[in-house]
Amino acid sequence: MDQNINMETISCADYEAHQKFEKEVIHGLKDNPKHLFSKYFYDQKGDVLFQQIMNMPEYYLTGCELEIFTDKKEEIAQAIKAFDTPFDLVELGAGDATKSSHLLEYLVDWKADFTYMPIDISGNIISVLQERLSKEIPTLDLIGLNGEYFEMLDKANSISSRRKVILFLGGNIGNMEVEEAYQFCSELRKKLNPGDILLIGFDLKKDPDIILSAYNDKAGITAAFNLNLLERINSELDARFDISKFKHYQTYDPLSGACRSYLISLEEQHVRIGNQFIDFKENEAIYMEISQKYAPEETDGMALKNGFQPVKYIADPKGWFIDAIWKVV
Ligand code: AVI
Repeated sequence: MDQNINMETISCADYEAHQKFEKEVIHGLKDNPKHLFSKYFYDQKGDVLFQQIMNMPEYYLTGCELEIFTDKKEEIAQAIKAFDTPFDLVELGAGDATKSSHLLEYLVDWKADFTYMPIDISGNIISVLQERLSKEIPTLDLIGLNGEYFEMLDKANSISSRRKVILFLGGNIGNMEVEEAYQFCSELRKKLNPGDILLIGFDLKKDPDIILSAYNDKAGITAAFNLNLLERINSELDARFDISKFKHYQTYDPLSGACRSYLISLEEQHVRIGNQFIDFKENEAIYMEISQKYAPEETDGMALKNGFQPVKYIADPKGWFIDAIWKVV
């Protein structure tokens, strides 16, 4: 009986997610300029491609933040452990938690009283993570939350009223336009209480060539990652994209720090999605993703404007990436 209720709840949530996906894809492709949301990159194949991106020699972000989480985990642990009170460590967009695993092991060894609550839009990633961590850190208290960040944060708050330490790593904030990032921090602040802590990763402005090659790799993995969203639309929304008729195009603007990806239609074409048709001119772009880069002082401004007090930055040895620690005021 219980199982039936569960099954129904899951399929209903899946149906709603599907409807939302369809609505946002059609709206984005009928808009001018055309755009798609990069949050939809992460289906099963997208997850695999993103893992490959993180292992690419050009994609420095993961390595930099991993160095912070291996070499400076004690500094991070000191900053979040505050007065030895129990807490929930909530990770937004946990992915495979490679970086946070180092901190988790350290906190468990340190006998910190906490529950790890990874949140991810990909249900597949959450189950893989739960299985792996239960083997690697058997004494870890873990509650996996599959869904959108704020909905799952509400769920985390309803599960427990302990103080929250939020991890938002990997430069995920960079996948929002600057105004959206401000809005995101302000929304996040509303769900937190004074004394809660946010540890947030920012990729920094640096040599433009280094940034551009991280998103325009020679092996074409980032191109495949972008094109995979068209394949996902084909399989999930009964569409007929011919991906050989699109190419990936990447830009970086060193003034604004905006690194943007596009898919360019190589010819005039009309693509069917379900019972609708989308018209493309030759060379027309679909705007796919922003990976915004920041200067450290710009991140302080973001904290102060949105109800946080910047506490410290923890940088990798090259100074390419920072994890900023902000306290809720
Ligand atoms: C997940 N996010 C931080 C990645 C980034 O660097 O913007 C996504 C990505 N897109 C292309 N390469 C990596």
